Amino acid sequence: MEWTRFLFCLALFFVSTTASTIETLHKIEDLKNKTFGHEYPRHGLLLLYWLANHISIGQSEDILLHFDPARQDYGFRYYESSSETGTPLPYLDDSSDRAYYSLGSLSSETVRTKLPPYVTQDYYNAFEDPKRDLDRIVLRVSRTNPNQADKVYITQAVSNEQDADYDPDETFEINPNLLTQVQILKTPLDLIQILESHVSGAQNSDDPRLVLSKDQLLYHLKHSDKHLQTIFEDPGMRWLLILAGYDIDNRYNIHKKAWSCPADEPIQHDQISRDPETLCEGHSTVKIEVKSTEDGYAKIIWSGLPKNILKMNSTIILFSSDTSDELERFTAIGGQTSGSYETYLALNHGIHPRLVAFNFVFEFGFIGLRYSVIWRGSQFDEANRVIPTKITGYNASLQLYTTGGYACARIYIRNSFTDWKSEFANSWVSFYTSDQELDHNYKHYQWVTKFSKVENTEEYLIYEYKSSMSIGPGVQARFIFSRGRVLSRIFRSSATVKARTVPWESVKN
Ligand SMILES: *[C@@H]1O[C@H](CO)[C@@H](O)[C@H](O)[C@H]1NC(C)=O
Ligand SMILES: *[C@@H]1O[C@H](CO)[C@@H](O)[C@H](O)[C@H]1NC(C)=O
Ligand SMILES: *[C@@H]1O[C@H](CO)[C@@H](O)[C@H](O)[C@H]1NC(C)=O
Repeated sequence: MEWTRFLFCLALFFVSTTASTIETLHKIEDLKNKTFGHEYPRHGLLLLYWLANHISIGQSEDILLHFDPARQDYGFRYYESSSETGTPLPYLDDSSDRAYYSLGSLSSETVRTKLPPYVTQDYYNAFEDPKRDLDRIVLRVSRTNPNQADKVYITQAVSNEQDADYDPDETFEINPNLLTQVQILKTPLDLIQILESHVSGAQNSDDPRLVLSKDQLLYHLKHSDKHLQTIFEDPGMRWLLILAGYDIDNRYNIHKKAWSCPADEPIQHDQISRDPETLCEGHSTVKIEVKSTEDGYAKIIWSGLPKNILKMNSTIILFSSDTSDELERFTAIGGQTSGSYETYLALNHGIHPRLVAFNFVFEFGFIGLRYSVIWRGSQFDEANRVIPTKITGYNASLQLYTTGGYACARIYIRNSFTDWKSEFANSWVSFYTSDQELDHNYKHYQWVTKFSKVENTEEYLIYEYKSSMSIGPGVQARFIFSRGRVLSRIFRSSATVKARTVPWESVKN
């Protein structure tokens, strides 16, 4: 008798400890009745899509990151799992070779500017909604090799201010298989083949779309996908929202209101209409971006503006940040659905473009200008959302960025690389107008040892240098290593190029 009771107690104990462990989600369908990123303006599913497209998953389900979270790439931050913080994640002590990094805290400007517009657009446009910054992804990475992750979690901040506290009921582990499914969504669906074959409804396919019946597939293509296509450009992204159970109807209603679409279902033209009357009748998204002129000033590029918006006397205004109300520059869009406009506003981190409708009002005997914001674009990122380039053979990297419209370089040195000052005593960084320029045809240079120290992170020392050369499309920085002093600054055979940054604005991201 005593013996059975003991067993019973033991069983209870076992149940209560396992109940506090974190549930693992193995497939996209498992996300279905979770709240993570499931309604406007939450960004969790968008972040998850972003992550799946920036990693490779190996045979043994190991996750190779195409970025370094310890270097703060894309706004990753070190996340401390100390016993004081309210974290549901397993505790890691200092001797552990693992560390947590969290992603997605959009309230921080350095984070939101580094992520692509599809992740941040709802944050910018849901200005006072507290739900716009709840979702986080946390990676558990190896300290010695921060490109290697062994765990992925999705979670939710308890409040926007206290990023240390995550809600245990909203924390889940993501199995690599789920991330593989998200990656598969990138491949277009061959609808004709599916409709002609009996493949759909197949439970054992890797492609999560093929689990749907033909009727469900057609429904999603006719309704869900049509409603999302002028909100999210990437079809794979739209599939993730559909399959994970995102609240598409609510999102579409908000979209219709923002862009003044008719309340009833717009006529769906099968032919691609070049100039749709309203955005909801179109087939593509609106884009508003801040780029660089040839000499470091802000240039606005826009596309996809529908006719009804152009008729509202709309234009794009640049602000110095997303929280600023001081008009920096007007740009004239001249009633064009797409185009570009060059300003004389020096490029700086955080510049924010907003699409507005304006009208002149007469008040107190003066003519006043009033505007109302239709849509907010993404802020300009000082490094164009391009992560640093590795300096070959060293635990260090080089990044090109701009401030005040000048070409600048930043060097990241891993803390473990302690003798870098002597190793790089004769190395320098030079700036070129294009990646085609020969190494000795630089416009500007600086010795690495003369860079200024700006920050000390958990893993890196950060040094910066601002040149007097303008930033502009094609500009490139190169890290040039030399053992001996090259006094005349003339290229010698002893000097070798160890890093070339991505030429400015040469990648679409
Ligand atoms: C989640 O969905 C499944 C069916 O898809 C259902 O059985 C289960 O009760 C749901 N869980 C919650 C918490 O709603
Ligand atoms: C647009 O501006 C013109 C004059 O510049 C004015 O006549 C017209 O009423 C304006 N339209 C709207 C919708 O405000
Ligand atoms: C970079 O650092 C890691 C860990 O500290 C070390 O194992 C590796 O050898 C270093 N690589 C180079 C090129 O110094």
